[in-house]
Amino acid sequence: MDHQRMFFVDSGGNGDPIVLLHAFPLDGRMWDAQARELSRQTRVIVPDLPGFGRSAATPASSLDQMADEVARLLDTLGIERATIAGLSMGGYTAFAFARRHKSRLARLGLCDTRSVPDSAEGKKNRDANIALVEREGVGAVVERMLPALLSSAASTETRERVRAIGNSQAAAGLKAALAAMRDRSDATPSLAELDVPASVIVGADDAISPPAEAQAIAAKLPRGELEVIAGAGHLSNLEKPAAFTAALARLLERT
Ligand code: MLT
Repeated sequence: MDHQRMFFVDSGGNGDPIVLLHAFPLDGRMWDAQARELSRQTRVIVPDLPGFGRSAATPASSLDQMADEVARLLDTLGIERATIAGLSMGGYTAFAFARRHKSRLARLGLCDTRSVPDSAEGKKNRDANIALVEREGVGAVVERMLPALLSSAASTETRERVRAIGNSQAAAGLKAALAAMRDRSDATPSLAELDVPASVIVGADDAISPPAEAQAIAAKLPRGELEVIAGAGHLSNLEKPAAFTAALARLLERT
């Protein structure tokens, strides 16, 4: 389905809607397993964030803009409140949504993500990746990131799936998102104000947003619960889909 700027898949039917926001450098297809399972019990909305997948033509210049597009999508669908769950870059977008559209947040899923902004070194790394996309194309950045995205135990099939989705992205979208992530604000000070049921889900072997950071986020959230996915790295929903989906299902049961 086409929205003004965002492609999305809307599945399932009754029940509180959940919106799943994807990681970088992927698109909504990374949520296929979760959408298939959760849509048996509720409505699941999976956008390709601006600049990615089938929304490649319309990159956003900030995570705030991505969050506003998600809110606009809810307007279009006539949904007042929804559970917002995002993984990594999707989590940064979920933080921006919570800050800018708080009254529309039913529950929050913060998956393999960070509340702190990029360090000076992290910002330099974003610029290096932007330069790499310009010089060598999308595939070079995907290969550079792959070792950190998955644990060493990830299957070849999962690795190839991440590579295939990553390699299909548009250069302009990746560059815009790298700049947006580099310039994102610190979400830590507002954690204490996010008084909704919240699950902080993290792969036990996540090398990008490690469990200790997830634990710190959960501790600052008034209703935060930590869910550690054993045997998974950063893209924990792809490495351990069943355990991850079960964690999201538990979040959906909370009131
Ligand atoms: C992601 O998985 O979305 C990215 O690794 C996030 C990041 O690079 O900060």
